[in-house]
Amino acid sequence: MAKKVRRIGILTAGGDSPGLNAAIRGVGKAALSYFGMEVVGFRDGFRGLAENRRINLDRAALSVILTIGGTILGTSRDKPHRMVINGHTKDMTGVIRDNLQKWGIDCVVCLGGGGTQKSAFRLQQAGVNVITLPKTIDNDVAMTDATFGYATALGIATDAIDRLHSTAHSHHRIIVVEIMGHRAGWLTLGAGVAGGADVILIPEIPYSVKKIAEAIRRRSKRGSTFSIVAVAEGAKSSDDARIFGKAEKVLKRAVSLNEKLEAKREIAALELRHQGNTMRLARQLEELTHLESRVTILGYVQRGGTPCAEDRILATSLGCACADLINEGKFGVMVAARGDGTEPVPLEEVAGKIKLVPPDHSWVKTARRVETCLGD
Ligand code: F6P
Repeated sequence: MAKKVRRIGILTAGGDSPGLNAAIRGVGKAALSYFGMEVVGFRDGFRGLAENRRINLDRAALSVILTIGGTILGTSRDKPHRMVINGHTKDMTGVIRDNLQKWGIDCVVCLGGGGTQKSAFRLQQAGVNVITLPKTIDNDVAMTDATFGYATALGIATDAIDRLHSTAHSHHRIIVVEIMGHRAGWLTLGAGVAGGADVILIPEIPYSVKKIAEAIRRRSKRGSTFSIVAVAEGAKSSDDARIFGKAEKVLKRAVSLNEKLEAKREIAALELRHQGNTMRLARQLEELTHLESRVTILGYVQRGGTPCAEDRILATSLGCACADLINEGKFGVMVAARGDGTEPVPLEEVAGKIKLVPPDHSWVKTARRVETCLGD
C-alpha cells in the first residue's frame, strides 16, 4: 500500500497566468482541510526548490487569493537540470531530490505550461513524486481540453479588438494588433473570431502579405475603409515559415552536441529577427493598400490582472482533483481538463508535446465563413 502523504509542496513556473492563485488555493485547501496534509509553497518556480526558499501555506495564506492575478509564490523560467547558480550552469536535479527527502515532502505540485510539464517529467524520472496542472494563456499544453489563464486572456484580447475597431473606423486605418500565444494561434484565433477581426494570422497557417492586401482592398471597394488585422506573435509568412522549418529540421537531425548548439543558435537568431515582424507587416500593408497603418502590441496586459469566472472554476476544479490524486498516491500525472471534469494523464504523454490549432479546426472554418482572411 502507498505511504500516506503528509506534506506536499507547490510551485508555479514559467510565465504567470490568471488563475494560478485560484489553483494554489484549490490544491492547498483540499489538501489541508479535507485530507489533513501540511502544505508548503516554493518561491520562484524550480529555483525555490533548489534553494530551499519556501513558505507555509496555511489557511491564512490561502485565504483571499482566489481573485488575485499573478502568483503569490512568484515564478521563474529556471529548469532543474540547467540552473544558473553563482554564474555557473548546474544540474540541480539530485540536490532537489535529496532536499525534498530531507524536508519530508512527499510530493511536489508543479503549476505550469509546456516547459514546466517537461521539467516535472524529468524530476519524476529522477525519483521525485510530482503532479502537474496545466496553466498558460497560450492554451497549447498537450492532452488537456483547456488550460487556466486562456479564458481571461481571451477576454482581454477580445476587448482590445473591440476598442480598436472604433478608432480604426474613425481614421480609415489598418490596425495590426499583435496577440501572444508563443507558437500556437489559439488566443489570436479565439479573440479574432470573437472580436470580428478582418484578418487573422496564426502560426499554424503561413500567410502571404499580397493575399492580405488583396482582402483589405476588397473591403475598401465595398466601402469598409478600415481593417483590423489580428496577428499572433508566432505567425509567419510562407517564406519565413520555410526558413524556420528548415532550421528546425537541422536541429532534429543534429547528432553531436556541437551540431545541436549550432542549430539552436541559428533558431535563436531567426527568432530575434522575427521580433519586428508585426511592424514590418504593417509597413508592407500600408505600401500595398495605400491605407495608413498602425500597430498595437497587447503584450503583458493579456496575462495580468484578475482571473475571469471560467478560469477560477477551472483552476479550482483542477486543484481539488489534484489533491484527490495525491491522497490516492497517484503521481507522475498531469491533471487534465476533460469536458466538465478532470482526468489524470501520464506525464510522458504530455512532456515535449504541444497542442497547436489544427488547420481544419472548426474556429478556422467559422472564420472563413464570415469572410475573415486567414492570409492563405
Ligand atoms: O507562455 C505565455 C507567454 O505569455 C507567451 O504567450 C509569450 O510568448 C511568453 O509567455 C512571454 O514570455 P516572457 O514572460 O518570458 O517574456
